[in-house]
Amino acid sequence: MRRTTLVIALLVSACQTSPNTPLRPEAVGDGPVTFNKQVVRVFQRNCQTCHRPGEVAPFSLTNYKDAHARRDDIREAVESRYMPPWKAVPGHGEFADVRRLSEDEIRLVARWVADGAPEGEPRDLPSPRRFPTGWTLGTPSAVLAMEEPFTVPPRTKDIYRCFVVPIRIPGEWRMIRASEVLPGNRKIVHHVQTFLDVTGRSVELDQAEPGPGYTCFGGPRFDSVGGLGGWAPGYPPIEIPSGVAWGIPPGARLVIQVHYNNPGDTAETDLTKIGVHFTTGPFDRRLSLLRAFAWNFGIPAGAPQHSVMARAMVQDDVEAISIHAHMHLLGRAMTVTAHLPDGTTQSMLKIDDWDFEWQIRYVYKRPVPLPAGTRIVAECVYDNSAANPKNPSKPPRPVFSGFETTDEMCLASVLGTARIVRR
Ligand code: HEC
Repeated sequence: MRRTTLVIALLVSACQTSPNTPLRPEAVGDGPVTFNKQVVRVFQRNCQTCHRPGEVAPFSLTNYKDAHARRDDIREAVESRYMPPWKAVPGHGEFADVRRLSEDEIRLVARWVADGAPEGEPRDLPSPRRFPTGWTLGTPSAVLAMEEPFTVPPRTKDIYRCFVVPIRIPGEWRMIRASEVLPGNRKIVHHVQTFLDVTGRSVELDQAEPGPGYTCFGGPRFDSVGGLGGWAPGYPPIEIPSGVAWGIPPGARLVIQVHYNNPGDTAETDLTKIGVHFTTGPFDRRLSLLRAFAWNFGIPAGAPQHSVMARAMVQDDVEAISIHAHMHLLGRAMTVTAHLPDGTTQSMLKIDDWDFEWQIRYVYKRPVPLPAGTRIVAECVYDNSAANPKNPSKPPRPVFSGFETTDEMCLASVLGTARIVRR
């Protein structure tokens, strides 16, 4: 075992990268649709977060040559809404930064391809969109990091590794207002999740395996008490409103789970970091994590559509900030509904095309009030048939709840805030 330890970097707050200038939406109009005039603007807004050099997507959509070469795939991907990846069905929760093309944008791209994907006039080309490198929220108050780099061999897929980081932050610094994950090597980091461990189990798991960290798939392999956010391309850092206390439990360890893919011909290394921003201001609310979590369930072998329900009860009045759904490879759909004490229901999230690859934290546009006594009900639907190409067991076998690749999970996590009641 080589343990990773906390690296606290106390750094002076530095100035921020300037935000990107907003881009105007384009009308389809009657004139010719060209790359330089309209299409590149759609790509800048909706695709380049991932489709640019050094990022997760396999090709770049920053220049005409690459886009022209892929034009037919692009048309198909946008018309089928395979791209950009965004799984929340409209009308079920109102989210910020919705990564979904409008019908007009889809028509625009389709017409461009149908017209032979012309480049257009050089003078129409907008200046390139600039993306922040490094921390997007500015320099953090403290950095929690893997102490040593983890090496991922060439041509490997789906390595899930958990790194244990002891947290040694003096007491008065424990309150934080924001947390941001900075992946070390974007060529191989597919996504990152973080978990807080107050059980000590992560240390045992780490000790049981050689090399930095330990193997973990759907989660950290222990029941966690929350985390410090996650990362996937376009996944926002967690920022909480002022006046809200977000505490790290005393004695907690941070477990950083990283999903690696290395399609390249050379070994790559990664050292992922979490930056936390402390807060000192007064607070009268606290962060509240509601988890509708099902356990002790089974899915019969061959069942094409098996439903599992998970429930959580809201104890104090909560305002929901964001929601995250979690299943493994057999997951097909999830709906999360709030049953309010006044008898009304509110849809919190609906996913009808679950993809383990795209676990997005959906941030509500406005806080969603969930009064005490609200029941959160999540319905997870699984396909354990041989016809499911993602089924990890061939032939299908009975599947039970658990943390391994061939187990399943049904979990909806709602992050919110609640008033602090001094008893
Ligand atoms: C959040 C990251 C992300 C965003 C945003 C995104 N892509 Fe992708 N895209 C990927 C990744 C990763 C792949 C490769 C894996 C896959 O095919 O799912 C991909 C694959 C593709 C493919 C190949 C699909 C195939 O048939 O194999 C096309 C075409 C594509 N993207 C077009 C787009 C377009 C156009 C946009 C914007 C409208 C876009 N993408 C936005 C991440 C992204």
